[in-house]
Formats: sequence, C-alpha cells, structure tokens
Amino acid sequence: MKLKTTLFTLGIIVALTSWVQATETAEGLFDAKCAMCHTKTRPTDMSKVLAPALMGVMRHIKMSYPNKDEAVKFMVDYVLDPQKKKAICMPQKIERFGLMPSQKGNVTEAELTKITSWMFDNFPPADFRGMGQRRGQRRGQGR
Ligand code: HEC
Repeated sequence: MKLKTTLFTLGIIVALTSWVQATETAEGLFDAKCAMCHTKTRPTDMSKVLAPALMGVMRHIKMSYPNKDEAVKFMVDYVLDPQKKKAICMPQKIERFGLMPSQKGNVTEAELTKITSWMFDNFPPADFRGMGQRRGQRRGQGR
C-alpha cells in the first residue's frame, strides 16, 4: 500500500518534470528555428521585418483553426510544405514577404509539434488587438 503511494507520487513528479522541460524546449526550439523570421514581440522597425510576427500569425491561425489539434496539424504540415493555396494568412502578406521557405531538414515533425503547441498556448497575448490597428478598434474580433 505504502509502496504503491510512493510509486504513484514519483510518477507524478516525473510526469510534471518532463512537462516543464517540454514547454521550456518548445520556446528554445522556436528561438533557434523560427524567431529569426517571426518575432515574438511587436516589431518596432517594420522595414526590417522578414515575416509576420508570431502574434499576428497565431491570431490568423486561430481564426481558421480554433481547435488546437487541428491548428497544430495544419502548422506542422505548412512549415514543412508551404503552399500558397494552403496559406491562411492574408494574401498581401505573401505578396510582401514571399511564401515561407520550407523548413524541411531544419526542423523535425516532432519538434514542430512541440513548437506549434507552444505557439497555440501562448499567442497571441491576451491584450493583442491586431497589427497596425488603432487601439479600441475591432474589439472582440478574431479571438
Ligand atoms: C526564412 C524565414 C522564415 C522562417 C525561418 C520561418 N518562417 Fe514561418 N513564415 C515566413 C513567411 C515569410 C511567412 C508568410 C508567408 C506564408 O504564409 O507563407 C510565414 C508564415 C508562417 C505561418 C503561417 C502560414 C500560413 O498559413 O500562411 C506559420 C504557422 C509559420 N510561418 C510557422 C513557422 C514556424 C513554426 C517556424 C519555425 C520552425 C517558421 N515559421 C520559420 C518565414 C519564415
């Protein structure tokens, strides 16, 4: 009886530790593989921006895929094989930045699943109201 309880507690600790590590590496992976193009904060100098910022990407992803599993599945597929006809972002973004280059070889499917779940859980931030829009406008949309 006692042993069972101890093992059960140990199991929980192991599960929690790996969960914490997984979320840590997810952001680390994003920093290493995606952040050079997708910034995590609102860009200050738009002329240096290479791709839509993470909060903008996730806002649009959630408008099309509010369900996390589907969103993750879509993003994993898109990052490895980007195509104009699949894209959910605004057409003027693709015109401006070009299609995202495939990250195949740069990131594995398992890593992508981790990264994109983290993206879904953390972006856009709660107070985000859309890029370049006046404060107070379009309140309550897109989330
Ligand atoms: C070399 C620059 C670059 C890198 C590196 C990059 N991206 Fe992108 N990404 C882009 C550009 C440009 C777009 C906008 C055009 C498009 O949607 O294809 C984009 C769009 C996206 C979209 C929206 C797709 C859609 O439906 O329009 C997602 C999701 C995304 N990126 C995820 C990632 C993830 C995750 C990583 C890291 C594994 C990553 N990107 C790395 C340039 C990049």
